[in-house]
Amino acid sequence: MNLPDLKTIGDAALKHSYDINKILWHRGVDRSLYFFPEVLTPLYHCASYRNVLDEEDRKAYNQLFAQYVSEQFIFLEDRFLCKVVESLLPWSVGVSVDLKRCLEIFLEEEVKHTEMFRRLNRICSAERYGVKDYYFLRLQKHEDSLLKMMAALPRQLNFWIWIALIFEEKTVDYFTHYRMQQRDGQSGKLDPLHYQVHQYHMLDEARHVQIDEHLLKYIFDNSNPIVRSMNVLLLRQTMRNYTTPKRANVYIIEELCNSRRHLRNQVEKLSADVRSQKGRSPYQMAQYSRRNFPKTFSYFDTYPDISSAMQDVILTYSPEEIKKSA
Ligand SMILES: [Fe+2]
Ligand SMILES: [Fe+2]
Repeated sequence: MNLPDLKTIGDAALKHSYDINKILWHRGVDRSLYFFPEVLTPLYHCASYRNVLDEEDRKAYNQLFAQYVSEQFIFLEDRFLCKVVESLLPWSVGVSVDLKRCLEIFLEEEVKHTEMFRRLNRICSAERYGVKDYYFLRLQKHEDSLLKMMAALPRQLNFWIWIALIFEEKTVDYFTHYRMQQRDGQSGKLDPLHYQVHQYHMLDEARHVQIDEHLLKYIFDNSNPIVRSMNVLLLRQTMRNYTTPKRANVYIIEELCNSRRHLRNQVEKLSADVRSQKGRSPYQMAQYSRRNFPKTFSYFDTYPDISSAMQDVILTYSPEEIKKSA
């Protein structure tokens, strides 16, 4: 795979650095528009989206889902990536100055992204996000403990690099969907502020994916076999949880049905519908394919243990034969 060296990645980061005040926050969000590409929401793929929900319900659902996506980014960046990368910095000093510089820039950029998504959610709902960052995303105790362990032992509990690769490539794909929908005359226009935040985010994340690729080589590839097997298992469990719509997706349905009186007796049906979007469902196909995840899937292909674990939990993934050079 064509991967620039760390010096080139660091130079590109400095060249393309931006101030988040360039984002047009003052215009607020346009509540008459959808906030997020519909195809990336689970309920969109269910018959009830058209049979039970009217246009205003669909828009309300979409806007709530967009807020959950922003929560996910705040979580991923603030609670997860910043902590592990901070903890890696002392080690990186002895590895390479370019790696250290890339990690420092990565950290600065993730702090900036957290602030972007926090501001965006506060504009969407001061009531939900005025004093806290999370509303739909509620961590369980064992998940919180695992995060703390990962931050303490980032080179041993290194499956986070795979998670970073998956979610950072997902970020790039999200913006591709924003752009596609904007260009497609058939689909409705998306809220310009959400569009802009996801656009700025994607600019940095494309480089973060490259840093993740380097970290796989520096850290995951050098794990001893026992540590490696444990990380493969942890990655499998994490992705199994993530690819099965449940808690947060059900809270979104509950919030929707509470706010729209005529949907009050539809909570169970709509919750069951979103829960059904797992496995090889249309929602999973829209989320995880070689088109969405070219790099991640190619990396899965090149690691037999990862490839086998991911086939168990991302059912839309199947390995492609690796072309051997002559
Ligand atoms: Fe980010
Ligand atoms: Fe990132």
